[in-house]
Amino acid sequence: MSKVAVIGAGNVGATAAYCVAEQNLGDVVMVDVLPGFPQSKAIDFLHGSPLGRYHVDIVGVNDYQTIEGASVVIHTAGIPRKPGMDRMDLLRTNVNIAKEAAKNIAKYAPDAIIIAVANPLDIIATVCLRESGFPRERVVGMAGVLDSTRFRYFIAERLSVLPQDVQAMVLGGHGDSMVPLTRYASVAGMPLGDLLDDQTIKALSDRTRVGGGEIVQYLKKGSAYYAPGSSAAQMAEAVLTDEKRIIPASAYLQGEYGYKDLFLGVPVLLGKNGIEKIYELELTIEEKAALDGSVEEVRGGLSQLASV
Ligand code: NAI
Ligand code: 2OP
Repeated sequence: MSKVAVIGAGNVGATAAYCVAEQNLGDVVMVDVLPGFPQSKAIDFLHGSPLGRYHVDIVGVNDYQTIEGASVVIHTAGIPRKPGMDRMDLLRTNVNIAKEAAKNIAKYAPDAIIIAVANPLDIIATVCLRESGFPRERVVGMAGVLDSTRFRYFIAERLSVLPQDVQAMVLGGHGDSMVPLTRYASVAGMPLGDLLDDQTIKALSDRTRVGGGEIVQYLKKGSAYYAPGSSAAQMAEAVLTDEKRIIPASAYLQGEYGYKDLFLGVPVLLGKNGIEKIYELELTIEEKAALDGSVEEVRGGLSQLASV
């Protein structure tokens, strides 16, 4: 049985762990800094196992050693923004947590694929790459699956169709400047432009960009976790079962799309080796300009890394 480690047993981490366990994808280890917290989650999940169909081992721990031998590590540890904190405070704290996590992943699970989730996503993925020393194929950021699944849902809701029949792709950084590629959206093979007018498509695309923020506005104390947790679990599944799934994910670019030395959401092929291929789409001038804008946002975050 494979082993999946989840760093951070909070809302996103626990949801991802639960999704992984429910599909019997592998034994699960949740690591969290809070004494008793990951243990409580593990026992709670196990209590439910007779009702579900899962039969994997699930443990919660406060040390990194127990992740030994994990083939996938989902990194969700981090603080959400609190009143009085600015973005830099969030970035500094989560970067330092990611540094510690990445070093421990390299020590105890040197062959793992890291799925970075904590925010700011594209910056945290950079930290995971640098501090683990892993090749770029083995560090991937989760954002595109989530942003695309939101876009897919909004399209399905508008058309009253099965969400699974909708295909859509969102590229760029995981921020408000993300780029929903409306030209590539389709419903059961039919181009979205044949089904909805431009104004409606634009409205759905705009809602996608602020989809995470919409939830924060309602929730107030934190951010989304059901869709994010299952998005991370879907990526873990692609790796663990060598699915060769094509998804949008944050990959470290080395010249693709004309960008270098940064993580950005692009279509990738995900399999047992991590990112096995990056697809370079032909973009229109407008799409490329939008992607450039998103890159600027990511570079802005990266420039703050030096002072952490
Ligand atoms: P949360 O506050 O519920 O959970 C975070 C957990 O990390 C807590 O249990 C905390 O004790 C733990 N933690 C803190 N420091 C740690 C350390 N040094 N080692 C191990 N664990 C540590 O937050 P939530 O909602 O689970 O979000 C987690 C992160 O994921 C946030 O940064 C959030 O912004 C991000 N996120 C990213 C998404 C994406 O699309 N990439 C989507 C949703 C959330
Ligand atoms: C989201 O998109 C907060 O990044 C998180 O829901």
